[in-house]
Amino acid sequence: MAAHLNPRGDVAVLIPAAGAGVRLGPGVPKALRLLDGVPLLVHAVRRVAAAPSVRAIVVAAPAAELAVVREMLADVAPVTVVPGGATRQESVAAALRAAPPDPEIILVHDAARALTPPELVESVAAAVRDGADAVIPVLPVVDTIKEVAADGRVLRTVDRSALRAVQTPQGFRRAVLAAAHAAAVDAHTDDAGLVEQQGVEVRCVPGSEYALKITRPFDLALAEFLLRAAEGSG
Ligand code: CTP
Ligand code: MG
Repeated sequence: MAAHLNPRGDVAVLIPAAGAGVRLGPGVPKALRLLDGVPLLVHAVRRVAAAPSVRAIVVAAPAAELAVVREMLADVAPVTVVPGGATRQESVAAALRAAPPDPEIILVHDAARALTPPELVESVAAAVRDGADAVIPVLPVVDTIKEVAADGRVLRTVDRSALRAVQTPQGFRRAVLAAAHAAAVDAHTDDAGLVEQQGVEVRCVPGSEYALKITRPFDLALAEFLLRAAEGSG
């Protein structure tokens, strides 16, 4: 049975899911790849739908797979599915245009972060509700980071203590995200990047190891392991 979304919730979640998944290797678009027999997008939507503040979900899907995606999500949660664009940014903009007008808090969440727990969705939404214009979940960087020239020469070691790895969902006051997308000229790999360019302050909340982005085959194997380990403990 499909999950119900909270009609009194104040959050709409936009899920860019229109990427090909080139780095995952040949196959169907990444959102449709199976993790423990279930498409990545279904994993992601299930967890987003389980967050109590969420009133609406809009998925930007590969244009050639709209019918497949709608069918796939019919039993998961009430979701609006729109065709995505050529870049992640265009896919987010398409989803934003299709979002219902009332929720004041808009979250943008990669379908590729399929195991993101509902608690992270709630904590990002809560930080926006508490007054932040823009919120990102982050983790400390564990590796030593070096800047390297194109020919492989090390240029310098970067001070790691001030660096953070950024995840999704990223949360925004609706007007802030809409203005940033309307003003976008160049490409950004995340929405907070667009908002920063508008001079808006972005706040950090603690991220989750489970919100890893499934990018390469190793990540898929890791996610499969995490899922089975969680099932075993439940
Ligand atoms: N995305 C999207 N529209 C695009 C490109 C990406 O909606 N034109 C989405 C992906 O579906 C994914 C998220 O943005 O959920 C993060 O992108 P990424 O992990 O890079 O996924 P892909 O672009 O599919 O992977 P790759 O770059 O390896 O092709
Ligand atoms: Mg990509």
